[in-house]
Amino acid sequence: MIRNLSTIINLKLLSLALAMSIGILNVSLAGDGADIDLTVDLDRPLHSVSPLLYGLFFEDINFAADGGLYAEQVQNRSFEFDEALFGWEITRDAGCRVEVTDIEPLNTVNIHYLSLSIANKNDVLIKNSGFGGIVTQKGLSFNFSFYARANNTFLGNISVNLVDRNGDNIGSVQIGKKLSANWERYTGTITAEADENLAGLVLLVNGIGNLEFDMISLFPSNTWRSQDNGLRADLVQMLYDLKPGFFRFPGGCVVEGYDLTNSYNWKNSIGNISARKVNWNRWRSWNRPPQYYQSLGLGFYEYFRLSEDIGAEPLPIINCGMACQYETGQLVPLDQLDPYVQDALDLIEFANGPADSTWGAKRAEAGHPEPFNLKYIGVGNEQWGEEYFKRYDIFYKAIKSAYPDMNIISTSGPSSDGKWYDLAWNKFKSGTPADLVDEHYYRSPGWFLQNDNRYDSYDRTGPKVFAGEYAAHGNGKRNTLYTAITEAAFMTGLERNSDIVEMAAYAPLMAKDGFTQWTPDLIFFDNTRVFGTPSYYVQKLFSECKGTEYLSSKIDDKQTLIAKPAGKVGLSTWRTAAEFKDVKVVSSGKELISSPAASHWHAGPGKWSFGNNSYIQADSSVDGAVCFVGDAGWENYTLTLKAKKISGQEGFIICFRRDNNDDGLQWNIGGWGNTRHAVQAVDGGSSSVLTERDGSVDSDKWYNVKIELNGENVKCFLDGNLIHDLDIPVRVSKRLYASCTRDSENGIVYIKAVNPTAEPLNLKVNLRGSIKLASQASVVLFTADDREMENSLEMPQNVYPESFTFDGVSDNFEYPLKPYSLTVIKARER
Ligand code: AHR
Repeated sequence: MIRNLSTIINLKLLSLALAMSIGILNVSLAGDGADIDLTVDLDRPLHSVSPLLYGLFFEDINFAADGGLYAEQVQNRSFEFDEALFGWEITRDAGCRVEVTDIEPLNTVNIHYLSLSIANKNDVLIKNSGFGGIVTQKGLSFNFSFYARANNTFLGNISVNLVDRNGDNIGSVQIGKKLSANWERYTGTITAEADENLAGLVLLVNGIGNLEFDMISLFPSNTWRSQDNGLRADLVQMLYDLKPGFFRFPGGCVVEGYDLTNSYNWKNSIGNISARKVNWNRWRSWNRPPQYYQSLGLGFYEYFRLSEDIGAEPLPIINCGMACQYETGQLVPLDQLDPYVQDALDLIEFANGPADSTWGAKRAEAGHPEPFNLKYIGVGNEQWGEEYFKRYDIFYKAIKSAYPDMNIISTSGPSSDGKWYDLAWNKFKSGTPADLVDEHYYRSPGWFLQNDNRYDSYDRTGPKVFAGEYAAHGNGKRNTLYTAITEAAFMTGLERNSDIVEMAAYAPLMAKDGFTQWTPDLIFFDNTRVFGTPSYYVQKLFSECKGTEYLSSKIDDKQTLIAKPAGKVGLSTWRTAAEFKDVKVVSSGKELISSPAASHWHAGPGKWSFGNNSYIQADSSVDGAVCFVGDAGWENYTLTLKAKKISGQEGFIICFRRDNNDDGLQWNIGGWGNTRHAVQAVDGGSSSVLTERDGSVDSDKWYNVKIELNGENVKCFLDGNLIHDLDIPVRVSKRLYASCTRDSENGIVYIKAVNPTAEPLNLKVNLRGSIKLASQASVVLFTADDREMENSLEMPQNVYPESFTFDGVSDNFEYPLKPYSLTVIKARER
């Protein structure tokens, strides 16, 4: 069904493409939608576009590193997981004793290893199936290595094998060397004889005696640029294709760690991979995948090398002596901060120092004598409050005094606004120095549409902005066309303000399908496939079509979308079962609905039953059970009903002023574990509190609920008592967002136009100035038939940009903008 839909879209696009390439479309489609003027002054660049504007945020979340970008095929290669044999299967007879032990280990950080004591000369199979199966292709070679030692009594053979899902051999190499009594590294190449997605690596031991293994590793030879200790080429290609300006690493909350012992220490991530200290991944505490570790195989050397390969400025974030404030919030006392500061200084030396400096020598030894030319460093991730700034000041002074040209990035907390954000920006306004300030915002699609002007009024004399993490979080936290389009609308504002917004990154970057702690994400993959979400294609288009200077332009829309304070009503619960009755909506003395019959209700999540004037939601485990009734055009009404909590953690929620996308308002009665009543705005599945007060409800008791709407005023009554009284203004939405830039080196003008509405628009472009554009332009259209459409491993190009030729550019031309679309017109200068 969906496949057919996509075929239809492609056919439609094909005919659109044909029409455009023969130059008839602008005539035939003009007028389909409302006219909106866009006047561009080609002679008036307002400022340059930051060359670093669009970049990458990488964090080991959602199995993005081990089992993802990092091409190591063996999971728990050094037996350092808490469950020491996790990932391993050992097949042997009763005469073989197996243990993971730590006597005279390989080194001081990799202290556990596998020890075998074999009495009978029967095969012992030591098998690892990687991260859900090793992927082989016939003819593809793999580089294996392991450390081993054996006592003198060990007599026998060892082979390294690839096996298919049935255990049949699909590649084998003998270790033709007697094992040494001391730890020694054994290496070799093994070539797969078959295609298999569920292969395993097997070390087969046949002999008698005692022997020990550690750091058993296997890499395919086809890593990105065939590099050692390399990365998955298809995933790197996705990053490369984004033409990123910068590359932030290693996060994110993993920088901070669950506690200080868990925080990211870059020094553990360089040098011989057998001596990198495995760390448990802080994201396992979030969604509790118990076996989530960081091998640090993809460490700081690999990161700098990758930044260079993909042409991005490296932007490391370092721990500032604070663990994640959402978790333990541990603090390093100020008088013990020196080692942390020294780590930051040493990292800069590792990146930039001469090859004979202490840390520069380690870079040279790793294979890169030339400096990496690091220019940016972030002090802490998403930290907030006075304790942060006490530490930040110390880092700032130390880094600037050793490296005056280093650009130092401060954080402004985890949110786009609020008290921690205000505290941070007040500091910068009152003299705390920073080159850039990192802002994070995961907000609703509506927020992104309303906030394209966020930076229009930012102080031009203060620090620059690094929008270090952002993403639109809509209904179900999915990567839909719509969320991507709202991001595109917002990004026109980033470009308009790229004189102060120097860098911006969607976050998080990567997710292994089925292994996510966080959605939405930019790129999804499994062991064999990868796809870009709609947000990926928005990022890519903006990055490719950034231009070098931002042109003066003006949108003239005669009609802005002014929503009415109107909408349908609904019943809802959160982890609670409840019953409702006597639902009545009256406007100007007229009953709009009274005790609606089952057929009038539209039920969403939850276990709803609609009897004769009794509406029950029976599932007390569901988050956000909801059903709606009525019309999005209803206004100035009074909603009355009776509600009773049956069981569960909270009270009940009454929805009102809901539009056709179910966005609008709700009264949450007994929310937050039955402690508070609040009026909330709901937008794309996210809610925010508009007003609140303490309150709770009792179980098995009927409550009289009344909500009175009068224009923008909302009054909420519980059992006749007025609980809230507030004005809630309606949103003014724009129908068009645009950004016009010019690439002065290549003589190309980019017009990016975003239509986030359900209606087509007719863009009337008026070009001013002495620069003249060729009539033939190329156009990229990014849209789909349904704003809820997504990409998937099966349908990676369900929502995908299409390119056309358009032969109609002139001083005044028209161009049709499809609903929910991003259109980029790329016109050459004559
Ligand atoms: O991107 C996911 C997380 O969001 C990051 O780790 C953190 O910085 C933010 O809270």
